[in-house]
Amino acid sequence: MAVKYVAEPFRIKMVEPIKMLTREERIQKIKEADYNLFNLKGSDVYIDLLTDSGTNAMSHHQWAGVMTGDESYAGGSSYYKLLDAATDIFNYGYIQPVHQGRAAEKVLFPLLLTKGKFAISNMFFDTTRAHVILAGARPIDCVVKEAKDPSYRCKFKGNMDIEKMEKIILEKGPENIGLIVMTITNNSAGGQPVSMKNMRETADICKKYNITLDIDAARYAENAYFIKRDEEGYQNTPIKEIIKEMFSYGDMFTMSAKKDTIVNMGGLLGVKDKNDPIILNIKANCISMEGFFTYGGLSGRDLESLAIGLYEGIDENYLKYRSGQMEYLASKLDDEKIAYQAPIGGHGLFVDAKNMFSQIPYNEYPGQVLAVELYIEAGIRTCDIGSYMLGNDPDTNEQLEADFEFTRLAIPRRVYTQSHFDIMAEAIVAISERAHEIKRGYKITWEPPILRHFQASLAPIESNS
Ligand code: F0G
Repeated sequence: MAVKYVAEPFRIKMVEPIKMLTREERIQKIKEADYNLFNLKGSDVYIDLLTDSGTNAMSHHQWAGVMTGDESYAGGSSYYKLLDAATDIFNYGYIQPVHQGRAAEKVLFPLLLTKGKFAISNMFFDTTRAHVILAGARPIDCVVKEAKDPSYRCKFKGNMDIEKMEKIILEKGPENIGLIVMTITNNSAGGQPVSMKNMRETADICKKYNITLDIDAARYAENAYFIKRDEEGYQNTPIKEIIKEMFSYGDMFTMSAKKDTIVNMGGLLGVKDKNDPIILNIKANCISMEGFFTYGGLSGRDLESLAIGLYEGIDENYLKYRSGQMEYLASKLDDEKIAYQAPIGGHGLFVDAKNMFSQIPYNEYPGQVLAVELYIEAGIRTCDIGSYMLGNDPDTNEQLEADFEFTRLAIPRRVYTQSHFDIMAEAIVAISERAHEIKRGYKITWEPPILRHFQASLAPIESNS
């Protein structure tokens, strides 16, 4: 039985019309887009679930902040407002604004990673993995084995496999591990949360071997909500205190603020120790690549709305509503016994396309098959989180096989209503009923060398080939 939808803790004062093309038009549009959903025009999409990043609806307080943003090149008041908010929430000694998450990675990773080094994570997201490789190092994923079975329900499926992580550290030599990255929530594993205990234990190992622990904090507020809901001992702890404890285990954090801070653009880089000599190099990299360190590639109005969004994103009523949307959607799939990464994570539904299209092998990209079908079925834009996204081995250029073949419905914050969620569920059910009729997947006809999924061209493989 579908769970009850948690009503919006806001009302809507501005609307953006969307239109639905006909099925025939959508078939034509996706063909013209070379079956790559990133090539579609936004205006040809009805419900856009490509990402929850930068697609959020700002509040009237944030829009008011846009008008009061201070556009001084150096030392603007919006910068100081952002510093006050970020210091209050994360308790770090140095905060650097940047234009988005990957900018924080670009500024920080080359300072810690070089050729011959490794970075270990509970799971890297695509751009984070790319920045490890661009710095010359190699990424190693180390998520707990429970995460690899989408139908296996347990709490904190995003956790680091601590034993495996220590084994890798010893195998490669602690001096060769440039960085450990704890991604909260674990996006690639389905927005699955990481427990406080796991963060604490990971930090203990990092200290033991003197390795820097970076928190990839894009969805830190959703992670904190899961800890409060599901981890023993935290039910009565305010979200803000949970966040302080989570961040106390990291040495640094890199954050895409386009997610949990509910803005359209922004990022942060934090260093716990205000006397850490790396800060000088962070400032230098930032000045040459992002902009002066008091604006970091953002306009004053962005800094202002980000400072306000930091507090809105950790509001417990909001987090309850957001998590309620996910639970509502997931329960509709449960009713139809459709597999997804369960229990549902924090920012979207990751449908198990390997299960739905068991006849289609990883190198014909089942996650992409379902993504294309969802667009054709209902004008819903999603993305593959599977072998298509993972790409090729940087050393051998062979297609890698991902642990999962997911199609991700990433839910923008404060944007879609209950009836949109009903449309999503109905579309998935309709496709699952005709899934057996789709015999083959896609081949790649052109791809760039790195982060190929954004730009590649694909073509359907004919069933008789
Ligand atoms: N880290 C994680 C865990 C992310 O999910 C993302 C972005 C980034 C870093 C990079 O941040 O986009 O601001 O540069 N994820 C988006 C997504 C794009 O769709 O999941 P960015």
